Amino acid sequence: MPDPMPEPFYVTTPIYYVNDQPHIGHSYTTVAADVLARYHRLAGRDVRFLTGTDEHGIKMCKAADEKGIAPNELADLNAPHFKALWEKLDITNDDFIRTTEPRHENRVSALVQTLVDSGEIYRGSYEGWYDEGQEEYVTETAAKEQDFKSAINAKPLVKYSEDTWFFRLTKFAPRLIEHIEANPTFIQPSSRRNEVLSKLKMGIEDLCISRNKTKLPWGIDMPNDPDHVVYVWIDALSNYINALGIPSIGDDHDGEFAQYWPASIHLIGKDILWFHAVYWPCILMAADLPLPKQIYAHGWWTSEGQKMSKTLGNFISCDQIDEICADYGRDVYKYYLLRAITFGSDGDFNAEQFRQTYNTELANSLGNLLSRTVKMIGKYFDGVVPAPTEEVAEVADVQAAAQAMIDAAPELMDKCAFNKYIQGSIDLVHATNQFIEITAPFTLAKDDTQRERLATIMYTCAEAVRLALVYLQPILTDKVPAALEVLAQGDAPTDFATAGQWGVLQSGTAVGPAQPLFPRKS
Ligand code: MSP
Repeated sequence: MPDPMPEPFYVTTPIYYVNDQPHIGHSYTTVAADVLARYHRLAGRDVRFLTGTDEHGIKMCKAADEKGIAPNELADLNAPHFKALWEKLDITNDDFIRTTEPRHENRVSALVQTLVDSGEIYRGSYEGWYDEGQEEYVTETAAKEQDFKSAINAKPLVKYSEDTWFFRLTKFAPRLIEHIEANPTFIQPSSRRNEVLSKLKMGIEDLCISRNKTKLPWGIDMPNDPDHVVYVWIDALSNYINALGIPSIGDDHDGEFAQYWPASIHLIGKDILWFHAVYWPCILMAADLPLPKQIYAHGWWTSEGQKMSKTLGNFISCDQIDEICADYGRDVYKYYLLRAITFGSDGDFNAEQFRQTYNTELANSLGNLLSRTVKMIGKYFDGVVPAPTEEVAEVADVQAAAQAMIDAAPELMDKCAFNKYIQGSIDLVHATNQFIEITAPFTLAKDDTQRERLATIMYTCAEAVRLALVYLQPILTDKVPAALEVLAQGDAPTDFATAGQWGVLQSGTAVGPAQPLFPRKS
């Protein structure tokens, strides 16, 4: 029986504020999403990968004011920087949505209108605190606890007092709690899931979802009230469905919603979990739409041991990312981001640790294995991969490491355990380098009676490095194709079903010449 069609895989990043240019934090989520997208494509799934920019709200207005330009001009100035960085990093998003595009604005209006029609939105008045950097309402208790400053950037909270529209968030809270309890992987990591759950159980209030245009003119009109604009988070969150088209409001385009919704995973940073784990599911419930399958909140990067700041000089901006990529290669930057810390935890970007990780794992281990293997096949077998005819007991250890990598991969990717996923390939590389030390092909090559044994050893090395490369494809997006080229696999299919098992490399394949793909860095 053929395998059933795998489910489509829809992955999203947050849509980034365009009040400034992108930095390492933005690139982190996008790189992680790209790796998931690439992995699932190689696993044979129909993948949809969405990113974009969040262009409305008070934060945008203020930043534009400071520059003396209109918010839309600022958006038009900065959105291309995000697009350019994703191109530079070879990100394979299928779509890029801007919240100022008509396709988004129209669907936000339509979505809000359905909530108005179903009575989930009502008129009320709000007086309370607002965190303008986070675009977030803060309760009186929380404001007091935070000394009336933002918990994120320590800027003073602003007192808002106005007549606005409210969404019946409290009505959906019990259903949400039930859903989170019944679906342990809905919010990940589980420590964050527990935080959300306990905060929800402490009780929440209805959500203020509009602002008077006299106070904030920059946003999407409330469809039922031209004097108000939609709260920027309601506007922003709905991008995830707007990019597909929402059938319930009559504009399914090309069946994309039916194909890809609900999203397989929303990747976000820990600071925006509440919006994604509470507001978004409740809005979807109110609109009678299915909930995303998972929301995964990653940690934050510091830089050289401190919070990133332009004044401290440790800020990793677009330009710094450019420099790192020019020095090491863009895929090595991506490798470090996912390798250095456990996804979900905070981590520190450290230039020295970057260099060491590169030298140890990529130059001395992976790069060295590839080049010594290709050189030995060149020297002992005229550059042609020999057939593994004689049994060599130690091959079992290499094959076991390969199988362990292959078997663990799906679950590790399901858990976004990128560093452990990479570790699987590196373990295979280590096992193979050790195999070379133990079996000593360089000594065997001097003895003609050992040709068969030598042949098996060289085949094993070449096949092991090929497999390690196949599994590193989603991350080392330039080096792997170049290395597979050296193994004469440049034109071969590289999906896991075809290339992801032991024994795919054909004897008789002419390999080489060895290339310095990972030169050591001092
Ligand atoms: N516009 C909202 C998201 C709306 S999604 C419907 C937003 N934008 S943002 O540009 O401020 O932040 C986007 C992402 O960058 C967040 O997930 C945030 O966690 C992440 N990061 C910002 N600084 C970061 C670090 N220093 N480290 C890691 N990620 C960080 O929020």
